[in-house]
Amino acid sequence: MKTIITFGTFDLFHIGHLNILTRARQLGDRLIVGVSSDALNIRKKGRTPVYDQQDRMQILEALKCVDAVFLEESLEKKADYIQQFDANVLVMGDDWTGRFDAVSRDCEVIYLPRTPSISTTSVIEVVKTKGER
Ligand code: CTP
Repeated sequence: MKTIITFGTFDLFHIGHLNILTRARQLGDRLIVGVSSDALNIRKKGRTPVYDQQDRMQILEALKCVDAVFLEESLEKKADYIQQFDANVLVMGDDWTGRFDAVSRDCEVIYLPRTPSISTTSVIEVVKTKGER
């Protein structure tokens, strides 16, 4: 059983999120997703997510490519989560390249290319701009 693990906020779920999860799932037999808690997101990105952690987890749980979801409370606990879920591969988008090389002792680390031209931040900007017209 090859277990893949990945992490993220997945706020305002968009096609870039779906693409990385689908590709991650194809690398193994099951995909576990650590969803950044609301508190962690404030520390990490300086803003409260639009969708709260419960809703973000529920959306991910409903996806065909996702086998299990848990709440990620700290960026520093990657190695603990990898051990807890017995993960063989950590997948992250290439915006994180090099950031998790420390855990390559515990499992393989693969950075997948991001889907171009979309992010939660850009969606928020587009909606804001349209609202101002
Ligand atoms: N991701 C991706 N392609 C995109 C956007 C995100 O592959 N266009 C990946 C990220 O690399 C990460 C995962 O999706 O592995 C979760 O990313 P997240 O930070 O939740 O989404 P972003 O859209 O990047 O959010 P933000 O704009 O708030 O940084």
